[in-house]
Amino acid sequence: MRRRSFLALTGLAGLALTGCGGAEGNEGTLSFRNPLHIPPVLDPPPGPDGVRRFALRLQEGRSELLPGRRARTWGVNGAHLGPTLRARRGDRVAMSVTNALGEASTLHWHGMRLPAVMDGGPHQMVEPGATWSPEWTVDQPAATTWYHPHPHGRTAIHVYRGLAGMFLLDDRTDGTDGIGEAGEADGPGLPRAYGKDDVPLIIQDRKFTEDGELDEDFGGTFGPLGDDVLINGTYAPFFRVTTSRVRFRLLNGSNAHVFTVGFADEREFHVVAGDAGLLSRPVAVRRLRISPGERFEIVASFEAGENVLLKGFPDGDEIEEGSYDLLKLTAAPRLAPSAPLPARLAALAPPAEGDRTRTFTLYGSHINGEPMDMARIDEVVPAGAREIWELDNITFSHNFHIHEVVFRVLDIDGERPPAHLRGPKDTVYVPGKTKVRLAVEFGRHTDPKTPYMYHCHILKHEDKGMMGQFVIVPPGTEDTTPRRLAPSGHTGHH
Ligand code: C2O
Ligand code: CU
Ligand code: CU
Repeated sequence: MRRRSFLALTGLAGLALTGCGGAEGNEGTLSFRNPLHIPPVLDPPPGPDGVRRFALRLQEGRSELLPGRRARTWGVNGAHLGPTLRARRGDRVAMSVTNALGEASTLHWHGMRLPAVMDGGPHQMVEPGATWSPEWTVDQPAATTWYHPHPHGRTAIHVYRGLAGMFLLDDRTDGTDGIGEAGEADGPGLPRAYGKDDVPLIIQDRKFTEDGELDEDFGGTFGPLGDDVLINGTYAPFFRVTTSRVRFRLLNGSNAHVFTVGFADEREFHVVAGDAGLLSRPVAVRRLRISPGERFEIVASFEAGENVLLKGFPDGDEIEEGSYDLLKLTAAPRLAPSAPLPARLAALAPPAEGDRTRTFTLYGSHINGEPMDMARIDEVVPAGAREIWELDNITFSHNFHIHEVVFRVLDIDGERPPAHLRGPKDTVYVPGKTKVRLAVEFGRHTDPKTPYMYHCHILKHEDKGMMGQFVIVPPGTEDTTPRRLAPSGHTGHH
C-alpha cells in the first residue's frame, strides 16, 4: 500500500494537512520499471524567409500516468506535456499556438527575452479554436527555458493538467553570432547529445484519485502537494546511463513543491547553469534546492554497472517535507568516456549596480499589500535599466519570478548566496521571513501598453493575485506613462 493511502486510513493525513504542506514522500515505495520518457524535439528548419515555424496545439487527451490507469490530461501536440523546443541565438522563430481546449488559455515563454505582446502572459489570451502567432528573434545566451500557460486565475489548473515543456536555447557555435553581448559557446565539453547524455528532467508532483485521475483538489495554503512524482510525465522512471558523465537539465514544473535533489549515496555533482544560462565555472554540490519554475543544469558522473537513485530530500521547509525517490539511474556495463568537465564556463560580468531600488513586500498572497489587477500597471521601468529589486518576505515561503529580465541574486538576508546561485537567473526561492536582493537587468523592447508580469511561481499564489505588472518604456517617459490599461486584454485571433 502506498504511504498516502495508509495515512488516509489512519486519519493522519488530515492532521498532516493542517499545519504544513501535507506531503509525506514516497521513499522506498517504487519499483522503477518505466523507462523515462524523453520529450521529442521540435527544431524546425528555417523557411525561405529564414523564419523557423513551430506549430503547437493545446489539446485534451488521456494518458497512462499511473501504470494501468488512464487519466484525463492536457498536452501540447499530444495528450500530456509537450515537445522540447530548440532554437539558437539569432534564430527568428514564429510560433503558431492553436487552442483546441474547451477554454481560453495562453502559452508563456518562461525565461525568454522578448517583446511584451509576444510573452504569452495573461494579456495574450487565446480563445478556444483560435490561433496565436507570436514571432521574435532569439537574443540571449544558451539556457534551459520552458513554456506553460498563464491565464489569470487558471494557471495552476492548466499547468497541473499537463501543459508544459522545455525550450532549449543554444549559442551559435559556428561563429556567426554577431548580436547582443558576446555569447560564450555552449560550454565546450558539456555533454550535449539530447536524451543520451543531455537529459531533460521535468519534475512534477501530483495527487491522484483512487481511480488514477489527477486529483484537482487545490485546498491548503500552497495548493496541491502530491506524494507521487512524475518525471517528464513518467511515474517511477529509470534512465539507462551509457556515458561516464550525464548532463541533466532540471526543471521544477510543480505547482508548489520545492525539491532538494541529490543522489541516494550523497555523491558530489556539479551545477553548470542556472535559469538564464551558464555559471562562470562548475560548482560542486551534494544537494540542490529547486523551487517551482527554476531550472538548473547539472553534470553527474557514473561508474559502469552501478545503480543510483536521484532523490528529493526534506529540507525543513513547509513546502518540501518528505523524502522522494525520483529517478533510478542504471549505468550500462560499459560506459562511453565523456570529456572532462570544463574548468571555466561563461565569462560573467559582476552584477550591475542598480540605478534605483524597488521593494516588494510578500505577505500572504499579495505583493505590496495589493492583489493583482489586470488593469493596473504597478511599475514603470525605463528600457535597459539596471535596478535592485528587494524582496521582503514577511510570512511563509514563496518564490519570485520576473518575466523578460535576467537577474543575479545579490544577497539572501544580507549573506552572499551560495556559488551555484550566483549565475544569471529569472526565478528565485524566497523562504519565509527572509529578504532577498536581486540585481535586475531589463531589456530594451518598449511597450507602454503591454505589461510583463512578476509573481510568486507557487501557482495557487499567482492565481490568487500574488502578481504584479510592469511596463518597459523609452527612458524619460516614465512619468507620462498611464498607470491604467483599457479593459480588454484578449488578443487571440480567430
Ligand atoms: Cu513561469 Cu509568469 O511564469
Ligand atoms: Cu515567465
Ligand atoms: Cu507564494
